[in-house]
Amino acid sequence: MEKTYITTAIPYVNGAPHVGHAMDYLLADVCARFFENSRFQAGTDEHGNKIFQKAKELNIPVQEYVDNNSKKFQDFIRRLGVEYTDFVRTTDPDHERRVQEIWKKLNDHIYLSKYEGWYCTGCERYVTEKEYEENHGVCPDHQKPYEKLEEENYYFRLSDFKDQIREAIESRKMTILPEFREKEILKLIEESPDVSISRPKSQLTWGVPVPGDESQVMYVWMDALSNYITVLGYPEKDISDSWPAYAQFVGKDILRFHAILWPAILLALRLELPRNIVSHGMVLSNGQKMSKSIGNVIDPIEVLDKHGTEAFRYFFLRHIDTFSDSDFTWEKFEDAYNNELANDLGNLIQRLATLCKKNNFELNGPVELSINHESNALMGQFRYKEAFDMIWEEVQAVNKKIDEDKPWVLAKEGDTKKLNEVLNNEVMDILTVAILLKPFLPETAKKIEKIFNSGKIEPPKEPLFPKNK
Ligand code: MSP
Repeated sequence: MEKTYITTAIPYVNGAPHVGHAMDYLLADVCARFFENSRFQAGTDEHGNKIFQKAKELNIPVQEYVDNNSKKFQDFIRRLGVEYTDFVRTTDPDHERRVQEIWKKLNDHIYLSKYEGWYCTGCERYVTEKEYEENHGVCPDHQKPYEKLEEENYYFRLSDFKDQIREAIESRKMTILPEFREKEILKLIEESPDVSISRPKSQLTWGVPVPGDESQVMYVWMDALSNYITVLGYPEKDISDSWPAYAQFVGKDILRFHAILWPAILLALRLELPRNIVSHGMVLSNGQKMSKSIGNVIDPIEVLDKHGTEAFRYFFLRHIDTFSDSDFTWEKFEDAYNNELANDLGNLIQRLATLCKKNNFELNGPVELSINHESNALMGQFRYKEAFDMIWEEVQAVNKKIDEDKPWVLAKEGDTKKLNEVLNNEVMDILTVAILLKPFLPETAKKIEKIFNSGKIEPPKEPLFPKNK
């Protein structure tokens, strides 16, 4: 049976996760929960100099260092309530062997050549002379000066595939989202030179050896991008029940690798291109990209310990824009928690369940609701924040309806028929909200269903989102 295959970028393990890393996982999780029968990959990117140097600095054997950090990411993903089905580590021998097989299959498009240029270890890529000048010699993302490198490397002949990639984008076989980024990529394809896909062993030891050349190690991106198919068992296994991916989630900073180099590799392997590449914006801290290299990171575990998984998901899926950059501040987080989760939703549940109990209202159920909501169209276009906004309007509408229906007045007047009718409508509405909330707040949705869709209705002993003092 065919699966809806959903992927996330695999983070470097040169440190613990920060809140920015949550974006890939949360967006992909919303997507996976929205579709049934999905396959969901996550993983860790464990090779390269950045990681090697960090482990050395800390005086920890590299493998032990990446083992520890990979575990931190796995724990983090679980704490986000994200349910992946497959996990890949690039130091896993299965992955390493498969990447070497992939390299061999690319042979016709690979050549050896000398290169001199500017390199950023933070980005793990060469920058063009134009970029070097525009940025005055310093990487804006990592705030480190570019290094001059001169090396003999293997190159992947990107030029063999540029026309096909452009055609795939223009004909919508492969869609890049949001649309304005697709336009940027179309421009960038023209300017993209062939890609260096190896480094001399003297420069990089922590990586997958190039098959047939002891002196070279694979470039991390070559190794990392392949994870999306090695995790499925490629090349020894038939991957057609999962590949092509339905959606690949990545940050905008690494879109170029996914929208240009990755499709070129796939074309060279004669595999289909992913249907959608969804690039999200950055979580900022004081207006700057949150990053380990800059050192302005917020520890997600602190946020999770304080407010729990559902509040974390709520904030990052509704108050961090899906496609553009948004600032994280504790103040914004606390406001959203108190005013929206605790007031709008938590109180609503408490209030409605109490009204039902007090008036002995019981649902003639459980009921099976089938809903066709406007937000589904947005969900289909990956516009999750907008969809979530629309669902929250329903939450507010139920609150308003209760205010207007005034069930307590009907109870006082003894109008039982009308009272039961309005309570029934309100309960149906809250159950509709629960279904819509499922991809975003799965545990909350479950709790709402348990309270209201079970015949006898009891308010929860503890409010779902207790207010912070
Ligand atoms: N290892 C590469 C990805 C290889 S995928 C074949 C990498 N790692 S990373 O750790 O730098 O980033 C992992 C993911 O987290 C990327 O999608 C990246 O865009 C995302 N984010 C990293 N910092 C982020 C924010 N501050 N905000 C939002 N997303 C962030 O790139």
